[in-house]
Amino acid sequence: MLITRQPALRKFWYAVMPAAMLAADRPQPFTLLGEKIVLWRDADGVPAVAQDRCCHRTAQLSKGWVENGNIVCGYHGWQYDCSGACVKIPQFTSEKIPPGARVMAYRIAERYGYLWVALDEPLAPIPELAEDSDPAYRRIDQFYEEWNCGALRFIENTFDFAHQAYVHRAMHGLNDKPQPPLGKVTRHEHGIVMHITQPVRNPDAGKAHIGIASDETVRTVVMDWYMPCARRMHITYPTGLVQSIISAATPIDDTRTMVVQWSYRNDTEEQVPAATINAFDRKVLDEDKDILAFVDDDLPLDTRMNLEQHMASDQPGIFIRRALMDVLAKHGEQEVMREQTLKDARRAAA
Ligand code: FES
Ligand SMILES: [Fe+2]
Repeated sequence: MLITRQPALRKFWYAVMPAAMLAADRPQPFTLLGEKIVLWRDADGVPAVAQDRCCHRTAQLSKGWVENGNIVCGYHGWQYDCSGACVKIPQFTSEKIPPGARVMAYRIAERYGYLWVALDEPLAPIPELAEDSDPAYRRIDQFYEEWNCGALRFIENTFDFAHQAYVHRAMHGLNDKPQPPLGKVTRHEHGIVMHITQPVRNPDAGKAHIGIASDETVRTVVMDWYMPCARRMHITYPTGLVQSIISAATPIDDTRTMVVQWSYRNDTEEQVPAATINAFDRKVLDEDKDILAFVDDDLPLDTRMNLEQHMASDQPGIFIRRALMDVLAKHGEQEVMREQTLKDARRAAA
């Protein structure tokens, strides 16, 4: 599926940037689902988002600045409010601003220290993360970076426990045990949940990170998928330590993804510094990044077309494909994929 070609995928919230990146006076550009948008804060500090394209001569508004809560185009100074309406044309003297002088404005929310944007009426709420308001947990901001991979390939990877023995063989993957544990997957209205118990290697690089000295340990994991592009990996170790990793794979376009990741831990900075946790998770993420850059970004949803082969541990990925197919069907959309995807898959099967 080419994610930018399915209007139904615009009907979800996406985490686009850390809230701290958006200063009071400096607009920020982002590209979401192939659409250029600009974020800024109004006079009260409330975030706003609009199309990053002035209706006068198409200049990107993100090149401008903020004045009294309005965004000012840097080309000729036209100003827009948070609703996208043009409220000032400095060249006008007595003329009225025409009603067509406006840009599209979108929904924006600030939650968990991040800015979330929906380009169309959302079908699902922003994920509820109980850890965020639980005093037993601290939040650790981890990564905000662009990857050359399809957003759904990132999501699928996080639910795939067969890759760990290979991709993460230098870290927590048990490379002598290629048969992964199988999880129990349940589908619900806004995604899936998978319960899985995962034996892992505990490499020297990770011992300080989880405070366990043995060379192997076990993770009790609850994986949540929040349709379409966010997931929580809630890991409990035998010591009672919990790390709940939130990853949003925000689609910049079909081939590029902004990976937005933060964690919650029920230990303290004195016990394990955030820098130690991030150093370990950085290595794990780099291993995924390396392989996902070379996986076709066009993930076929319709399994009836037999464009990919599957194995038992791919079950969550199949659930994800079906749930997204249902969203498309509900909105009267056909799955759009590249001609090349069909050709490549069929050539192999012929
Ligand atoms: S292009 Fe924006 S004011 Fe002219
Ligand atoms: Fe991985």
